[in-house]
Amino acid sequence: MKIGILGGTFNPIHIGHINIAKAALQECNLDEIWFMPNGRPPHKHTPGNITNMERLEMVRLAISDNPAFKVCDIEINRKEPGYSYVTFQELHDLYKDQHEFYFIIGEDSFWNFTKWVKPEEICKYTRIIVAKRPNWTEQEMLIDKSTSVKCTDFDATIQKYKKMFHQDFIPLHVNEIDISSSELRRDIYNRNLLKKYIPANALSYIYKNNLYQIHHELYEIGEIDKKVKEALKTSRYEHTVGVMHTAANLAYAYEYPYVNAMIAGLLHDCAKCISDQERIEVCKSHRLTISDIEAKYPHLLHGKVGSVFAKEIYEINDEDILHAITWHTTGCPNMSILDKIIYVADYIEPGRDKAPRLDEIRHMAYINIDRCIYMILQDSVEYLSKNSDSMDETTLETYEYFKKLVEGKTNDN
Ligand SMILES: [Fe+2]
Ligand SMILES: [Fe+2]
Repeated sequence: MKIGILGGTFNPIHIGHINIAKAALQECNLDEIWFMPNGRPPHKHTPGNITNMERLEMVRLAISDNPAFKVCDIEINRKEPGYSYVTFQELHDLYKDQHEFYFIIGEDSFWNFTKWVKPEEICKYTRIIVAKRPNWTEQEMLIDKSTSVKCTDFDATIQKYKKMFHQDFIPLHVNEIDISSSELRRDIYNRNLLKKYIPANALSYIYKNNLYQIHHELYEIGEIDKKVKEALKTSRYEHTVGVMHTAANLAYAYEYPYVNAMIAGLLHDCAKCISDQERIEVCKSHRLTISDIEAKYPHLLHGKVGSVFAKEIYEINDEDILHAITWHTTGCPNMSILDKIIYVADYIEPGRDKAPRLDEIRHMAYINIDRCIYMILQDSVEYLSKNSDSMDETTLETYEYFKKLVEGKTNDN
């Protein structure tokens, strides 16, 4: 068989890698692509503190839906990382009668190829496919502080290498994905890029195992916690800590980054410490709409104002966290998973003891969060209906939404 070998750190794997593999498979008529995560010495720090096993597992999950994609663990399982020529020698020895190998390299590696350790040895055992970026322009590429290569004529360099190494160098045109693994690691709390660029089951593995969530962020929670403690009354702060821990537990249960859930929990009531008049003023100065019911009961505004405070005082820019804080009192139709976590955590945190059937609701929170929210809304609507002018529209809309979602019907049928 014709096998393409795609090496890399894959920390984490993303669709840029997958696209190169797909293009190589099709354009070069290969039978399979083997993703080969490279090895790292055990004492060397891996960005994000990711273990070899975790990198391997992310790759395995990301490619699991394509039968032509396989994982090759030769390099990652080596005790000491070796050079590429050793890997290809080993692959050749293992599979010489069965497979022909095609080493897929990026343009950076291509221009740099003569500087690799024993490139002629690599070329003894494998053809080279060069993934060419469409937007590459002629430039000087720095290899290290003192050495640079001129990247001037791609086709001429292909021909030059062919002669020099007596091997095929095959250009492969791939649409450029403008993303790097390091950008993705930095996005772990924002998650806007992650959702877009990491295959779903690899992403779910990242969340489930809290990969890339390092102590720095936990330290940040400590800093927010200090400020919140100073701003809130003791009883409100105790409730807040209860919500934060419950939100973390729910985040684990629903595979959501627990640090984000903790920050949202910690800040959900951060606007409880000011007066009704001040809340109205914040809304006016930020041009936030105030409904009739909110004008009558301004404490209902503490979600909206809390979101403003989270952004301006606590410097939180994550839209999901801000949204969850905004809607934590009433809920809203189409809640995100974090909205649901905070809504439920606020209701069931360990300090709560007044609401009816709390045991049942706490139990349901970890089994079916939608049904749990529906139960909370049923009780809230019943409670609020005793005083009909305190019933707000959003709570009712949310109730109808979850009723339909859970029971599959509305009031009309
Ligand atoms: Fe609240
Ligand atoms: Fe609360």
